[in-house]
Amino acid sequence: MSGPLIVLVGPMGVGKSTVGELLAERLGTTYRDTDADVVAAAGKPIPEIFYDEGEDHFRALERQAVRAALAQHTGVLSLGGGAVLDPTTRGLLAGHTVVYLSMDVDEAVKRVGLNTARPLLAVNPRRQWRELMEARRHLYTEVAGATVATDDRTPDEVAQAIIDAL
Ligand code: S3P
Repeated sequence: MSGPLIVLVGPMGVGKSTVGELLAERLGTTYRDTDADVVAAAGKPIPEIFYDEGEDHFRALERQAVRAALAQHTGVLSLGGGAVLDPTTRGLLAGHTVVYLSMDVDEAVKRVGLNTARPLLAVNPRRQWRELMEARRHLYTEVAGATVATDDRTPDEVAQAIIDAL
């Protein structure tokens, strides 16, 4: 468990976990995911946190998870798709190696569509995806030093593209 910390950001469904695990394997390091840390801390799945306590509470738990992971982890770290919405979380990323995995709206609808396990896409996935991307794209590019498009790439190709971009 050594090596530099690489942080992956980008929308849900872009492949942060799949690519992150592959990337960690290639670099001979470990993978960590702040969504999993939040679930462990809360003792319940993310849709239940949203439903029971609301998004603000989720973002607060996420902020703590990001802070702890950045302090403790070396290797590859994925953040939840909305982590960049929180200004404090964005600030925590300053000085770290952050890669934005991007995809266009058509690709997002195709890959994720209406996925009830992801509470933000309950109705009209295409419109919600467009709005979500418009609201977040500039935040991803603000925190990231490199952007890697995933649209026409396999997870293996995306992992390689990240290595090439660093
Ligand atoms: C969210 C993305 C999810 C998870 C939560 C909120 C978002 O993470 O953190 O459901 O606001 O986009 P993934 O990007 O890992 O799916």
